[in-house]
Amino acid sequence: MKRIEAIIRPERLETVRDALDELGYPGMTVAEVKGHGVQKGVIEQWRGQQYRVSFLPKIWLMLVVDDEHAEKVIDSICANAATGEVGDGKIFVSAVEDVVRVRTKERGLAAI
Ligand SMILES: Nc1ncnc2c1ncn2[C@@H]1O[C@H](COP(=O)(O)OP(=O)(O)OP(=O)(O)O)[C@@H](O)[C@H]1O
Ligand SMILES: [Mg+2]
Repeated sequence: MKRIEAIIRPERLETVRDALDELGYPGMTVAEVKGHGVQKGVIEQWRGQQYRVSFLPKIWLMLVVDDEHAEKVIDSICANAATGEVGDGKIFVSAVEDVVRVRTKERGLAAI
């Protein structure tokens, strides 16, 4: 299983969520976060100088999927989160050892 953590633009969340739902991934965790990438946030010009304004609001979206569908999920997030501008976000992929559904104690793939 893979944990897919996507940092995306807040305004793309609904679109990304709907696409994941259609793919058959209704389970996910979302949080409002702040961050910056290589541009280090918004750079504003004032009197010819550049200023770093702040961290930017982003959405952290996390879902755990089976290995064989991870690429499909990543493609879907990319397709639906992208605007083509800097700040579109980033996806981190890592291995998940096990999952437990608390209600039934099911494990692994059955618990996703
Ligand atoms: N290396 C990183 N580690 C953890 N979080 C990151 C990292 N890079 C980006 N992020 C998170 O992703 C958000 C979006 O990053 P962003 O899309 O600006 O990445 P980027 O590398 O600057 O690419 P781009 O040049 O397309 O803007 C950031 O606000 C931050 O929350
Ligand atoms: Mg950036």
